Amino acid sequence: MVSCLFTPINIGRLTVRNRFVRSATHDYLADDRTGVVTPAQLELYGRLADGQIGLIITGHAYVHLSGKASPRQIAADDDQKIPGLRKLAATVHQTGSGSLIFLQISHAGRQTKPGLCGRQPVAPSAVLDPKSGVLPRELSPDEIDELIAWFIKAALRAREADFDGVQLHAGHGYLLSSFISPHTNRRLDSWGGNWENRSRIIREIIRGIARACGPDFPVIIKMNATDHLAGGITLEEATNIARSLEEVGLAAIEISGGMNEAGLGSVWPGLRPEEEEGYFVPLAAAIKKALRIPVMGLGGIRTFRSAEKMVSGGQVDLISMSRPFINQPDLVRGFQAGKIEKSPCLSCNKCFYPRGIRCVQKSVSRQSV
Ligand SMILES: Cc1cc2nc3c(=O)[nH]c(=O)nc-3n(C[C@H](O)[C@H](O)[C@H](O)COP(=O)(O)O)c2cc1C
Ligand code: SF4
Repeated sequence: MVSCLFTPINIGRLTVRNRFVRSATHDYLADDRTGVVTPAQLELYGRLADGQIGLIITGHAYVHLSGKASPRQIAADDDQKIPGLRKLAATVHQTGSGSLIFLQISHAGRQTKPGLCGRQPVAPSAVLDPKSGVLPRELSPDEIDELIAWFIKAALRAREADFDGVQLHAGHGYLLSSFISPHTNRRLDSWGGNWENRSRIIREIIRGIARACGPDFPVIIKMNATDHLAGGITLEEATNIARSLEEVGLAAIEISGGMNEAGLGSVWPGLRPEEEEGYFVPLAAAIKKALRIPVMGLGGIRTFRSAEKMVSGGQVDLISMSRPFINQPDLVRGFQAGKIEKSPCLSCNKCFYPRGIRCVQKSVSRQSV
């Protein structure tokens, strides 16, 4: 019998060939000065597509230089980036594996440094990040309008470059995440206060992308359902926000959590027992009850059997992974051939390697598939 993980699912008007998603993963491989796609990235994405992952989400691409989060980060901030992005999408599509590719679009907000983004970081409110020491500048209402336009233009560039869709990064304390979090959004105007106001910016972006890119270009989101901080976003608020985004056309949602200043981010170190894989899946399952759109489960999922249970049990619709695909881009093919039961990734986090992500664990064996 075919596993539920190898059955198709629709996201908007697109069909994803299986239930595996490569969660957005910054690769430190773009040109550092410009954010232009490099040959090393084409090679990486070619390998991921050869591995038959249903949906590949790129690392976060900054929509404006003020939102650059990391060295060697990919960019979608002007039209000069379109030819490189087009090569990236074509590399995935030309493998013939049927993999789809979405561009994750992002602004770092207060989680960057002047040395990276060339100015004082910006945020909904001037709330000090005690971990980095960054005190951001509060955005004016005109600047919020400008930000919305940057996201819409970045999505338009992705569409022009033949990406299949975009994912908004509203997790991990970056700008959109800091808007929906009551900890970082203390505004008293129509962009702050209750959950409706705090999430207004995201609804404006989704509506704007739909107007600019049309109904065949799905917008999905990666969103925090917890910041791991007292005074941060609650599950109830995240559920209400998710429902409001679905109403304006969101096509799918990936549930994540964490914020830099919380100490506990989204990339938890260490292996857990099989029954505890999917550390954000309970939050995703709770939110799924209020939605009709597909929900992606995430966080330390390593075993085929536990992934299958999450989908067959109706907790989530898709299985999202990042580090296992750094370790082994053809993991899905190995699962399907029955040659691999569990990713050998140790969750040691040593792949945050500033000269280009890679699995540095020489002891981790990769079975050939
Ligand atoms: C090297 C590295 C880079 C990452 N970059 C991004 C990113 O650009 N955008 C994002 O939303 N999450 C990013 N993440 C988080 C992952 O997408 C994922 O949410 C997290 O690692 C948990 O999944 P996993 O246990 O399967 O690795 C990154 C993770 C790693 C290890
Ligand atoms: S370095 Fe290798 S084993 Fe360690 S988390 Fe990264 S991919 Fe997994």
